[in-house]
Amino acid sequence: MCSVDNTLKNQMLDEIIAERRSYRAFTDEMISDEATLGIISAGLHAPYAGAAVSGDEYRKFFVIRKNSETMKTIQPLLFNELKGMSENLEKAATRDPEISKQAAGFIKRLSMIKKMGTIPGVGTAPVFIIISEKKGFPPVEQASLAHCLENMWLKATALGLGFQLVSLVSQMDNVDEFSQIFHLQPGEWAFMGCAIGYPAEKLPASIRPHARDVTTWLP
Ligand SMILES: Cc1cc2nc3c(=O)[nH]c(=O)nc-3n(C[C@H](O)[C@H](O)[C@H](O)COP(=O)(O)O)c2cc1C
Repeated sequence: MCSVDNTLKNQMLDEIIAERRSYRAFTDEMISDEATLGIISAGLHAPYAGAAVSGDEYRKFFVIRKNSETMKTIQPLLFNELKGMSENLEKAATRDPEISKQAAGFIKRLSMIKKMGTIPGVGTAPVFIIISEKKGFPPVEQASLAHCLENMWLKATALGLGFQLVSLVSQMDNVDEFSQIFHLQPGEWAFMGCAIGYPAEKLPASIRPHARDVTTWLP
C-alpha cells in the first residue's frame, strides 16, 4: 500500500518530468553508491522487450568512475568510433547531396568534437554508467534501452542530480574490444551511456509546446 495520495503523486511526477533536463557540466562531488543503485533500480523497473529476449539476463549496468582505469580504456575507443563515424559521413556526404543536406548539422558537430579531442559527457561527471541490453528478435534493444534511460533520468532528477545522455555509446555494439571490457559476448548486446553528477548550475524547467497544440483528436 502506498502512503502518498494520487493527487500528490501526480503533482510530484509532473514536477520531476518538467525538471528533467540535459546537464552537460558537473561538479566533482561524488554521488553516493546508494543514489547510483537507486538510479539503476529505476532503470531495471523500466519496461523491457519480454517477447524479443529469452532468459533473465537481458539488462546489465556498468558503473565507471571519473579518472578510473576503465574510463581511461573506454575514452580512446569511443573517440575512435566518433572519428570513424565522422569520416564515413563526410565521404557519404561528398557522394550524395541529399546526405550532405540532411546531415550538415551533425557533420559539423562531429567535426567540432574531433577538434576538441574529448567526447562531451565521457569522463566529465563523477559517474558514467553504461547500460547493455541483450539483442533479440525483433531487434528492439535500443527502444528498450530508451525506456530504461528515461526512468534513470527521472530518478536522477528526483535525487537532485544532473544527467547527460551519451548516445555515441550506442554505436559501440560492433566494437569487439568494447564488449570484452564488460565481459559480454561481442555483437550480442546493445549499449547506451549516461553521465551523472551534481550539476554545476541548475537549469530551468523544460519548455515545450502545450499538449493541445500538438494533439489531434480524431473522430
Ligand atoms: C536519442 C537521443 C540521443 C541524445 N544524445 C545526446 C548526446 O549524445 N549528448 C547529449 O548531451 N544529449 C543528448 N540527447 C539529449 C538531447 O539533446 C536533449 O534531450 C534535447 O536537446 C532537449 O533538452 P532537455 O533534455 O534539456 O529537455 C539525446 C536525446 C535523445 C532523445
